[in-house]
Amino acid sequence: MTTPYKHEPFTDFSLEENRVAFEKALENVQEIMGKEYPLVINGERITTEAKIVSYNPANKEEVVGKVSKATQEHAEMAIQAADEAFKEWRYWNPEERANILFRAAAIIRRKKHDFSALLVKEAGKPWNEADADTAEAIDFLEYYGRQMTELAKGKPVNSREGESNKYIYTPTGVTVVIPPWNFLFAIMAGTTVAPIVTGNTVVLKPASATPVIAARFVEVLEEAGLPKGVVNFVPGSGAEVGDYLVDHPKTSIITFTGSREVGTRIFERAAKVQPGQMHLKRVIAEMGGKDTVVVDNDCDIELAAQSIFASAFGFAGQKCSAGSRAVVHEDVYDEVLQRVIEITESKVTGNPESADTYMGPVIDQGSFEKIMDYISIGKEEGRLVSGGNGDDSKGYYIEPTIFADLDPNARIMQEEIFGPVVAFAKAKNFDEALEIANNTEYGLTGAIITRNRKHIERAKHEFHVGNLYFNRNCTGAIVGYHPFGGFKMSGTDSKAGGPDYLALHMQAKTISEML
Ligand code: NAD
Ligand code: ALA
Repeated sequence: MTTPYKHEPFTDFSLEENRVAFEKALENVQEIMGKEYPLVINGERITTEAKIVSYNPANKEEVVGKVSKATQEHAEMAIQAADEAFKEWRYWNPEERANILFRAAAIIRRKKHDFSALLVKEAGKPWNEADADTAEAIDFLEYYGRQMTELAKGKPVNSREGESNKYIYTPTGVTVVIPPWNFLFAIMAGTTVAPIVTGNTVVLKPASATPVIAARFVEVLEEAGLPKGVVNFVPGSGAEVGDYLVDHPKTSIITFTGSREVGTRIFERAAKVQPGQMHLKRVIAEMGGKDTVVVDNDCDIELAAQSIFASAFGFAGQKCSAGSRAVVHEDVYDEVLQRVIEITESKVTGNPESADTYMGPVIDQGSFEKIMDYISIGKEEGRLVSGGNGDDSKGYYIEPTIFADLDPNARIMQEEIFGPVVAFAKAKNFDEALEIANNTEYGLTGAIITRNRKHIERAKHEFHVGNLYFNRNCTGAIVGYHPFGGFKMSGTDSKAGGPDYLALHMQAKTISEML
């Protein structure tokens, strides 16, 4: 009998013992830097000459790991292995499948700081962000395991006299899993285990910037007892291997998290029925965001400033949920802006391996350049009031940057920057603030800071985002508490970590028997 689900607690790094333990984990992780990882297809290890090299974004000289790079032939082998494994795995007792997730959660929990230390190295996450990412990975395992045991019971339907009707859920088939690099542990793990616990089999193509944590997670699943072929690990180029997996006629589900550009490409390609294909493919696509923190005139100013700051600069703004726009009522605009500048300038940015660092680097050279380009655009479009500089000599560092007085339609108010940049726009009243908040093609998260009850009730209906928060930041959704997914061009609103998520990986079957 499993205990009720509760989210994994975050580590309190103000306690000396936790700081010491994390320092030790950072020492331990040094031992695996530069290690090589093979492909895993049908349980077989395959080492290729070509490698995807994962670098530490805080120190671009440091190699985190070298991962074998799959070709289309490997992708084909992986699909065939997953298809073969599906024949047995689909009939496993759902509780046994769930138990593998619970065992994997226990394995990770025992070495929690070691995994988080790897996230510090591979993605440049500061301690608290790395700790939260690992906690969320554990949460997905614990939550989906429990959800599956519930779903396995089916749902009630009516039966007329003389008949017995049942409504059950059955697995779908080979699932291609394509995660992003930003929640390199949590999203990668969550989108991998949801299909497997529901009886599907997986071909996992990790993000090329962060394949090492994915390789280690596949090892965890094996240690937890996952049979061979149920998860196949094929790091590779998005264009070469990604397209091949998406197009394959045996692919049943594609679960993608990443940019709007790649997500819409996958959505279109998956719609095309290939020769030999016996079903329509399903696509779960969770994509970008341009998320807004709205500040009303009747509000707690300090709470507003802290919420804007945390939403904009947590993990250097590299969250789909990041609050990269602040829309502030004109009555409190100057005061809120000034306070956000003060908070931002009081924080330590730099090496994420230091306990007191609030913000580390951005992920790679491409991101660095893209964000710096947006900063140049921001200087034309608005008033730079803090930050604005970058330094990519050792790692990919960009100062937390604040622009004021933006037109609501300016590019930096509309386009996803995915970096430590926040743009402020002034609103005459709450109506205009809501209008600006809804004026992008995205609809992922949003927050409103207000004491006005009427405005809260209005915003519940009129602010069109998948995750709406009041009087807090717009990042940090917790599995099982804040199911996560976006409206509009932010995606298919799959609500990861929510009660409807697993069913997206299954087919409902009606069984009617005459008595
Ligand atoms: P990305 O779209 O560049 O890459 C995502 C994944 O797609 C990677 O694994 C990549 O290798 C793969 N890929 C690239 N081309 C492909 C192709 N042609 N076919 C198949 N796969 C391909 O995104 P990213 O830079 O890794 O992540 C950042 C983006 O992810 C941001 O836009 C962010 O908002 C979004 N994101 C969304 C959510 C959400 O839940 N909505 C969560 C996290 C990140
Ligand atoms: N689940 C992540 C957040 O809410 C993306 O910040």
